[in-house]
Amino acid sequence: MILPVLRTGSVSERGDPKPCREQDLGLFEIIARDGAARIGRLHTAHGHLNTPALLPVVNPNLRTIEPREMWERYGVDALIANSYVIWKHDDLRETALADGIHSMLDFPGVVVTDSGTFQSYVYGDVEVGISEIVEFQRDIGVDIGTMLDVFGRPDMSREELEECVDETARRAEQSLESAGSEMLLNGPVQGGLHEDLRARAGNLMGSASGEYGGFAVHPVGGIVPLMEKQRYRELFEILLAVRSTTPSDRPVHLFGCGHPMLFPMAIALGADLFDSAAYAIFARDDRILSPQGTFKLEGLTEWPIHSATLFGHTPEQVREMGTEERSTLLAHHNLEITQAELARCREAIRDSSIWQLAERRSHASPHLRDAFEWVLEQFEDIPDGPVGDSVLELLASTDPLRKGGERLSEDIGARPHILHLHALLSLRWRPPGSWWDGSGTGPERVVLIEGASPPWRHSAMGAAIAELLEEPSSVIMLSTPLGPIPFSLEDVSPWCHLDCPEEVWSEEYEDEEVTEALFEMGLADIPLVRTGPREIPDSEDVGVVRAWLDRCSVVDKLSVLCSVSPADGCSVTEGMVSRRSRTDRVVNVLLGDEHILSPRLSDGGISLALAGARRLNALDPSPPALFGEQADEVSDHPGVPRVWLLDDAIPFVGRGRNVMHGYVLGADPHLTPGQPCLVVDGNGALVAHGTALSTAREMAHLKKGVAVRVRDGALRED
Ligand code: GUN
Repeated sequence: MILPVLRTGSVSERGDPKPCREQDLGLFEIIARDGAARIGRLHTAHGHLNTPALLPVVNPNLRTIEPREMWERYGVDALIANSYVIWKHDDLRETALADGIHSMLDFPGVVVTDSGTFQSYVYGDVEVGISEIVEFQRDIGVDIGTMLDVFGRPDMSREELEECVDETARRAEQSLESAGSEMLLNGPVQGGLHEDLRARAGNLMGSASGEYGGFAVHPVGGIVPLMEKQRYRELFEILLAVRSTTPSDRPVHLFGCGHPMLFPMAIALGADLFDSAAYAIFARDDRILSPQGTFKLEGLTEWPIHSATLFGHTPEQVREMGTEERSTLLAHHNLEITQAELARCREAIRDSSIWQLAERRSHASPHLRDAFEWVLEQFEDIPDGPVGDSVLELLASTDPLRKGGERLSEDIGARPHILHLHALLSLRWRPPGSWWDGSGTGPERVVLIEGASPPWRHSAMGAAIAELLEEPSSVIMLSTPLGPIPFSLEDVSPWCHLDCPEEVWSEEYEDEEVTEALFEMGLADIPLVRTGPREIPDSEDVGVVRAWLDRCSVVDKLSVLCSVSPADGCSVTEGMVSRRSRTDRVVNVLLGDEHILSPRLSDGGISLALAGARRLNALDPSPPALFGEQADEVSDHPGVPRVWLLDDAIPFVGRGRNVMHGYVLGADPHLTPGQPCLVVDGNGALVAHGTALSTAREMAHLKKGVAVRVRDGALRED
C-alpha cells in the first residue's frame, strides 16, 4: 500500500498508554463542561479514552489506515472493530484468540468492539449466541465490548420497537456476567423514534447490573437509517430522550455517526463518542469530508478544505492517482479533518463556546439547520416528556456567565447560557424594596437608559444618578440588544461583552417590545421613562446614590446568581462598604473589617469570601437533604445551594481541599456549574465554600473527579 507523502510534521513518538489504576477501571470523569457538552476521561486498561472522541472503524481485512498510524500520527485514543466479523473468520479468530486483539490490530490504545447486531440488521440474522459473542470479546482482550442488542429500525411499529427494547434489556444481565470483571461493556439504547421508549430503554439499560457492575457506556442504537437519510432532527430528538435517563457518569455514544459536520451539535446536546467508517468509505467514493459538508473530488479545481495531507497535491493530481493510492490519501485527509473538528469542539467546550460552534455549523446543510431550529423551538417552548426534561437539564446546567466577548448573531437570544440568565432574571430578580433616600414605597417609575454602550458604569452612570436624584423610587434599566437589564447588573457578561458593531447600541426598540420584556421582569403597569446618557450631576447626594447602587448590585447578584432572597441579601449587606479599583470597579465588599465577597471582574459574577459564606449559611439552619429526598416545592430563592459532604472528607475539605465525586451525600437541585455553593455537614454546618463544577444529578452519579472547586475551607486553623 502506498502511503501519502507527509508534507508537514513527522510521525510523533507517542508512547504506549499506561493502564488505569485497578479501582478506576470503567470510571468516567468530567474534566470540563459547557452545559450538556463535556470533556471526559474514561479510565481503561489501555489508558484514558479522552472524550468527545471518534472511534474510527477498523476492518481487520482492509486496513485503509494502519491502526498504529492512527495512534501515533492522528492521536486516536480508541478504535472500534467488529468482533462478529473476527469471530466468523477462522484465521482472524485464531489470531485474535492466540495473540489478543491489540496485537492483531497493532494498536496500543483502547479497543472497542461491536457485536454483530448491525450485521443482523443488514443481513437479517447472525449465528452467534448472546453470551458467546460477549465471551469472545472478553477472551480476545477487548477493552470495551458490546452486547448483542436488538436493532430497532425507525420504520418498525411501536410494538416491534417495544420488543427490541425489552429483549435487549432481558439480555443485559447475562451479557454483563459474560463480560467478566475486566472488560467494560456497551449497553445500547434502542427505541426507534419514540422518545418515551428511548427514555425507558435508557432507564432499563442504565440500571441493569451483573455481578461486576453495570454498563460502562451507552450507545444510541438504530440510528444509522436516520443518518443515511439526513434525518438529523429525529437524531437529536432521540439523543435528548436518551440523555434524559442514562446515568450521567457514563459516556453516550452515537452508533455509526461520524460526519464532522454533526459533531458540534451532537456534542452540545450531550454526545461523548462517535464511530464511523465514513473516513474510509467516503474516500473510496472520492468524497472529501469537511465540517461544512461533503465535497466530491470530481470537478474540483482547488481544495474547498485543506489539510496537511492534501497540501502539495492539486485535485487534478489526486484524480490521476491509482484507485488505491487515491482512496488512501483521501482517507488520511478525512481522518485528519475529523480529528481536527473534534479538537475544535473540545476547545470550544473549554472556552464555553460549543453552542456558538454548533450555531455556525448549523448552516452546513439545510437538514442540519432544520434540526438546529427544531432544538431552538424546544428551548423556547419546553415540551413535557423526556426531550423537555433533557432540555431543562441542559439549560440549567449551563453556566449563565461568560468571560470573553459574545458574538452577536441572529440566533444569539436562543443560546443556552443567555436563556438561562434571562430565566434567572425573570424568576429571581426583584425591584428594590427601599431607595437611596430611605423611603420604602413601591417603584414610582421605570427609567430605561438607551443609546449607551458598555461599560455602562461610565456611559450610563450620569443618567442613572440624575434620574434617581429626581425621583428616588426609580427602577433604573439599561437597553441592550438582548432586552432591558437592571442597571445593578451592568457588568454582568455576556450582556456587557457583546461583540457587535457600535450602531447596535443606539438601535431604538418599539414600545411594545420594551413593555413585553419589562412584563417578564415583573415591571408591567409601572410608568416608563425612556432616556439617554448624560453627565453625572453636581449634587452633594451623588455619593449616597452611588453607595446605594453598589448595594443594589450586590443584593441583585446574590439574588439572581446565588438564589438569596432580596430580603436576606439586604440584611446580609446592611452597613456594607465597597472598596474600588483604580478603574472605578467594586473589588471588595466589607462589613466592618470583614471581607464578605468580591464581584468577579472577569464576568460580573460573585466570589464569596469565607465570612460571607458563613453569614449566608447561617440564613438556613435546616440540615441538608439526601439525594432524591429534596422537597418538590422550592421557593424562587431557596438560598445559596448546598452540597452535603460525607463525614470522612470533612477534615480535608474543611482545610481547603476540593470536594471529590463519590464523597457527596446530597446536593440542592438548583446547584449551577460555575456558580458559588456552600459545602456543609449533616447538621448544615459550614465545611467550605467554592464553585460547583457539576449539577446535583451528576453529583449523585459521578464517582471520580472534582465536584466542587473549593475557595476556602471553614475549618482552617490559620
Ligand atoms: N451499529 C450501528 N447501529 C448499531 C446498533 O444499533 N447496535 C449495535 N450493536 N451496533 C450498531
